[in-house]
Amino acid sequence: MSQTINGQQVKIFDTTLRDGEQSPGASMTLEEKLQVADVLEAMGVDVIEAGFPIASNGDFEAVNEIAKRATSSTICGLCRASEKDIARAAEALEPAESKRIHTFLSTSPVHMKHKLQMEPEAVLQAVIDSVTYARKYTDDVEWSAEDATRTEHDFLVRCVEAAIKAGATTINLPDTVGYSVPEEYKAMMEMVINRVPNMDKAILSTHCHNDLGLAVANSIAGVIGGARQIECTINGLGERAGNAALEEIVMTFRTRGDAVPYDTAIDATKITRASKLVSTITGFPVQYNKAIVGKNAFAHESGIHQDGMLKNAETYEIMTPESVGLHESSLVMGKHSGRHAFRDKLQELGYDLGDNAIQDAFRRFKDLADKKKEIFDEDIIALVDDEVFRGHDGIQVVALKVVAGTEGPQEAELTLQIDGENKTAKEQGDGPVDAVFKCIKTLCGDTQRLKLYQVHAVTEGTDAQAEVSVHLDEDGRSVVGRGADTDTLVASARAYVNALNKLIVKREKTAPDARDVTP
Ligand code: KIV
Ligand code: ZN
Repeated sequence: MSQTINGQQVKIFDTTLRDGEQSPGASMTLEEKLQVADVLEAMGVDVIEAGFPIASNGDFEAVNEIAKRATSSTICGLCRASEKDIARAAEALEPAESKRIHTFLSTSPVHMKHKLQMEPEAVLQAVIDSVTYARKYTDDVEWSAEDATRTEHDFLVRCVEAAIKAGATTINLPDTVGYSVPEEYKAMMEMVINRVPNMDKAILSTHCHNDLGLAVANSIAGVIGGARQIECTINGLGERAGNAALEEIVMTFRTRGDAVPYDTAIDATKITRASKLVSTITGFPVQYNKAIVGKNAFAHESGIHQDGMLKNAETYEIMTPESVGLHESSLVMGKHSGRHAFRDKLQELGYDLGDNAIQDAFRRFKDLADKKKEIFDEDIIALVDDEVFRGHDGIQVVALKVVAGTEGPQEAELTLQIDGENKTAKEQGDGPVDAVFKCIKTLCGDTQRLKLYQVHAVTEGTDAQAEVSVHLDEDGRSVVGRGADTDTLVASARAYVNALNKLIVKREKTAPDARDVTP
C-alpha cells in the first residue's frame, strides 16, 4: 500500500463554487460558499474558482468576500471574453492577496458557428483582446478554449499560442461536453506542447466533464500528457454528469504513485469533511458506492472480505479510511456529557465554532440526548450543520401537531414565529408532509415551487435523526433548505422553513440568477 507523497506536483484548481454551483439545484448562499471556501483553503487547494462575478450580484459578492478572507489559496473569478465581464471579475477579486482572472471562449466549429456566431478569425482576435485586457488587472491570467476537445488542432494551436503571447499564464483545455477518452485527451496535451512554440511560458490545465464517466481518467491522462493543473470539484459536482472529482484524483496519485508519479498539495485527511459539507449544503446525496467518499467506500460486507481484512487489512484495502479523514463512527456521549467534552468533540470533527454557536449546539445536543439514547458522530454533525447553516431565521418553527395514518384525512397544525409574531395554520393534505407544507404556504405565501424533497436517516435505528433537504425555486432563484430532527415531520417543516429564510435573503440581496450568461 503506497500512500506517500510522490513525484511531480500538480496544482489543484477547485471549481466547486463555480462549475459545481452551476449545476441545477446546487445553488449555495453566501454563508455556505464561505464555509466551503474555508474548507478548500484548509485542504491546501491551490486555486479556488469562487464564482462568475458578472452572472449575478450574489456571485459577485461571494467572489469578493472569499477574496477578502483567503490567505493561502489563489482566488479566481470566471469571465467571458468581454471587457465588461473581465472588469467585473477584477473588481470582485480586488481584495485578494493572490488573484486570477479566468477568461474563456469557445473554439470548436460547432460552438463558433451556432453559439457564438463568429468566424474563427474574429474568435482568435477576441482571445487576444480579452487576455490582453485581463492582464491589465493581474499577471495571473488563465485562458480556456471552451470545447477544446472538439476543436480543430491547427486552430487550437493558433489560439493557445496567441493567448500565451497576449499574457495568459495558464492554458486550460476543457472537455466541455465530456466527449473525450483518455488516450485522446493525453494526445491533445502532447500535441499542444509539441506544436505551440511558446508553451514553456504557461502551464497546461485539464477540465473534464463526466458525461461518459471518464472525467477523472481523462484528467489523469491529461497530466501524463503534460498538464500540471487539474480543474475539479468536491464529490464531482458540476454541470450535467459533473466534473472530475477532486478526492478521486488526489487519492489516485497518493495511492498509485508507483504508476502515476505525481502529487498534489492537498491534505487528504480533510476530504471526508469537505465531501459531507458540500453534500449537506447542496442537498445532493453522495452515492453509496462513490469512490473515496461513498458510505460503502470502506465497508467490507462479505464474509470472505471480512475474514481477509481481519487477517491483514491490505488484503482488500488499498488505502486506509483514516487517510481520507474517515474515522470509525464512535458512540459520542449521552445526556450526562458535559460542555467541555462536547467542545472537544466538535474540534475533533473539524468544527471551529464561536462561543455562541457552541452554546446553541450544546443546548440542541442536550435536547437530542433526551430523545435518543445513543448519540454518534453523525448525529453531532447533523445537529451542528443544522445550527451553522440556519443563517437568517426570521421564520421559525414553534410547534407542530400532525394526524397521520391509514384513515384520512391527514392533517397538520403548525405554529410559526414570523418576524417575532406567532401565527398558526391548520391544513389537510395528501399525506402528513403535504399537510405540513400546505400550512407553511398558508402562513408564508405560495410563490415558490418545490423541486425536491428528500429524507435521509443520519444513523441506524428507529430513533435515528432524519435529515431532510428541501429544494425551492422562485423566479430563477434556487435554494436548498435542510432540517434535522428525530421526528421526520418536524425535520421536514424545519427544512422548508430554512429554505424560505434563505429565499428571503436571496430576494433582498440578488437579482434573479442570470443563468443565461453561464457557460
Ligand atoms: O466546461 C467548460 O468548458 C467550462 C469552461 C468555462 C472552463 O466550464
Ligand atoms: Zn466546465
